[in-house]
Amino acid sequence: MSALDHTAPIEVQIALGERSYPILIGAGLLSQASAWQGLPKASTALIVTNDTVGPLYAPALQLALKPHYAQIHQVTLPDGETHKTWQTLNQVFDVLLSQGCDRKTVLFALGGGVVGDMTGFAAACYMRGVPFVQVPTTLLAQVDSSVGGKTAVNHPLGKNMIGAFYQPARVICDLSSLQTLPAREMSAGLAEIIKYGPIADMVFLDWIEAHIDALMARDPQTLAHAVQRSCEIKAWVVGQDERESGLRAILNFGHTFGHAIEAGLGFGEWLHGEAVGCGMVMAAHLSHRLGYIDLALVERLTALMVRAGLPVVGPNLGVETYLHHMRVDKKAEAGDIRFVLIDSPGHAKVQGAPDALVGEVIRQCCQA
Ligand code: NAD
Ligand code: GLY
Repeated sequence: MSALDHTAPIEVQIALGERSYPILIGAGLLSQASAWQGLPKASTALIVTNDTVGPLYAPALQLALKPHYAQIHQVTLPDGETHKTWQTLNQVFDVLLSQGCDRKTVLFALGGGVVGDMTGFAAACYMRGVPFVQVPTTLLAQVDSSVGGKTAVNHPLGKNMIGAFYQPARVICDLSSLQTLPAREMSAGLAEIIKYGPIADMVFLDWIEAHIDALMARDPQTLAHAVQRSCEIKAWVVGQDERESGLRAILNFGHTFGHAIEAGLGFGEWLHGEAVGCGMVMAAHLSHRLGYIDLALVERLTALMVRAGLPVVGPNLGVETYLHHMRVDKKAEAGDIRFVLIDSPGHAKVQGAPDALVGEVIRQCCQA
């Protein structure tokens, strides 16, 4: 049992007017009754999970929900990004419809970002919108994907291209669930935590550097602070720009290069967080070459990625392949690639850069 068990969860609020909601963070929340009070009222709940996470945590979630819902159904999807499709999404609608679920039914997303994004999209669509609750079980999902209301499935022609902005009613981050996460997935989540430092909070970057070993060792107290501060920063950004008309794009630091790595290698070869980690190193180099930041900050970020178990050398896809994939990134405008750059430590902006300069960064940062 950790020191955090039986203490009140940490609460971070997402302030979006009538769509506001709390993020609860703590160890052992799946079995802490107070975390499950005040959920949307309904007779029916549907747990959406996958065949890895379901056997580990669905029985505990069933128990947590039992006092609140007369009927609790469950749909267990196949695990993996390759199943984040319309076809798999239909399995959720099949259960909802075959069980006669009404428009008050509450969906619970139990899993990582794949389950969370799909459940949120199912909730946005079913009967034109039913409530849903995020119960993220990966570090990446706890610090990023479960918060902020981006939901989607993939299309054969593009990742996350079919989706909606649709906010959950609550996010419940049980830190204890991270104990079963594979090491590679922990590192992928750390990439998204590190991201918040250079774009928004250099004091947090100092703290991550000082605590990276404890984070890697999954110390609950240290994880609690990392998840809390990450969610606070994401809440601050999303509260100002829910639908990414401007500021929210800074959350995509490292994602333009990262997207090219994922797409160029074939999705699933590198984890999303791994590609983002390496992409942040590349974006930091570009920021330096544009004169915004010192080389010392680039080297600092690179060293931290290494300590977090993340790759810092990109695959050798060739400059043209990188540029091709970056042109279809969602931030691109009329084919012009737009990068999230650090324009001063702790602050980011979105802008284009000359292809020749981007090519130099790619050659510098990728395997020969
Ligand atoms: P994931 O959902 O595929 O989970 C990673 C792996 O860990 C899976 O095999 C999963 O079954 C397993 N797993 C999950 N929890 C576990 C646990 N507690 N113990 C053991 N195994 C566990 O991947 P992810 O990194 O969580 O999420 C990636 C997805 O999130 C991508 O589809 C990405 O597009 C999306 N995403 C969305 C947003 C957003 O804002 N909505 C942001 C970032 C990423
Ligand atoms: N993960 C980026 C965002 O939520 O905007």
